[in-house]
Amino acid sequence: MEQRAQRQPEPAGESWLGRRLELLVGPVAHGGHCVARQDGRVVFVRHALPGETVLAEVTEDRGGSFCRADAVEVLQASPDRVERRCRYAHPGGCGGCDFQHVSLAAQRELKAAVVAEQLSRLAGLRLPVTVQPLDDGDGLGWRRRVRFAVGPAGEIGLRAHRSHAVVPISCCPIGAPGVGDATALQRDWPGLAELEVAVDDRGEVVELAHRLQRARHQHRGRRRGTPDRRAARPVLDTEQLSGPPELRYTVAGRGFAVRPSGFWQTHPRAAEVFTETVLRAADPQPGERALDLYAGSGLFTAVLAAAVAGTGRVLGLEADPGAVADAGANLALLPAAAVRRAPVDARSVSAAAGELGALDIVVLDPPRTGAGREVIAAILAAAPRVVVYVACDPAALARDVRFALDAGWQLDELRAFDAFPMTHHVECIAVLRPGSGGAQSLEAGADRPRDAGDVAPETARYK
Ligand SMILES: C[S@@+](CC[C@H](N)C(=O)[O-])C[C@H]1O[C@@H](n2cnc3c(N)ncnc32)[C@H](O)[C@@H]1O
Repeated sequence: MEQRAQRQPEPAGESWLGRRLELLVGPVAHGGHCVARQDGRVVFVRHALPGETVLAEVTEDRGGSFCRADAVEVLQASPDRVERRCRYAHPGGCGGCDFQHVSLAAQRELKAAVVAEQLSRLAGLRLPVTVQPLDDGDGLGWRRRVRFAVGPAGEIGLRAHRSHAVVPISCCPIGAPGVGDATALQRDWPGLAELEVAVDDRGEVVELAHRLQRARHQHRGRRRGTPDRRAARPVLDTEQLSGPPELRYTVAGRGFAVRPSGFWQTHPRAAEVFTETVLRAADPQPGERALDLYAGSGLFTAVLAAAVAGTGRVLGLEADPGAVADAGANLALLPAAAVRRAPVDARSVSAAAGELGALDIVVLDPPRTGAGREVIAAILAAAPRVVVYVACDPAALARDVRFALDAGWQLDELRAFDAFPMTHHVECIAVLRPGSGGAQSLEAGADRPRDAGDVAPETARYK
């Protein structure tokens, strides 16, 4: 992965789609696949493991120096290969779980390799990374919210990899009790676009029906390099079919209520472990001032506010009005805390920091796209003593860490958690502190991210 694929001429007009290739599989790459090479091209192979020899069928070939394939036969298996625990996770099957064929311990090693590789390539840092389990379970039954797809005839399922095709299912083994075995999965749902099921700490289950609004479509300008399927996203109407008016969770002895469609950390142990990790890293003291960016319904705001109580203050910024309303209720007994409706951008961060006066702590938990150069610059300009970055995408994290390193900050600690077993996803918590002068030592030749937009997909460097 350190090595760039040599630029090769486009294959002479001939697509490899459907071809079967015997491949020696190389290292894992970000996105749930491994890298193999054939005739000067890179092949991203799913359902394989590093070191295996597989027969792989090409599933996508847009020309250029890479294509995608599924391992359909394993000729020489890795010792890390195990029987899949889900009958829908196979080549051509459900695209949700990337690593059902991998032992849990090896899944964590693959994710650690990906995090380390992203930090090396995008931030120029060579760090040992360990991915810690959140529980001692078997990687199943953890996912407390699933958005199921509905096919044209109303059949319930999940989407195939990089496709709109719906793979019919009647259970989802990684779904938590009440979600993965929801009775709603036993019938068809004609007229629905998606069916969402979520469960809370009490075991209360909500079902939400999402229907396509035929009249209105939210057209998003197609950005360079984005696939067509992301160009226009349909607007959905949501109706609650069953369950209570709010989901309830308890973290650090505190109760939180979230509207049925609201964001909450999906793994049952995630909110508790992440808040513990954030608090230990930030070490908030009475009287301190903190910002909680991308605050959701106030999870980190609340635990920080409890610690800075008295003359301290915590201000959260969050774009989603529903989450802001939930946060208002969740923080009602914490006078030091508030979550304000605002997009996180350089202006809102600087204004919030100015309002707080001296800023001690920033916690940020952005969506997959990360925070970006301007937001990181605004955070650092406010001169907190510590920034704790909770990240669900290691590439976006690494890019943002690089911005901080370039400004003379240090990556003090990096923790990684297996919050999404059986999938390639991994949660990281990075702790940044002002450097003691001079940038943290960087690897020679590390690529510098070009801009603060989306991190280029892993495949971009093989173009
Ligand atoms: C990963 S969630 C984290 C929520 C919260 N920290 C928690 O753990 O429950 C990210 C949150 O960022 C919000 N968000 C996404 N983009 C945003 C933006 N540009 N400005 C403000 N909030 C945003 C989403 O609505 C969501 O609540």
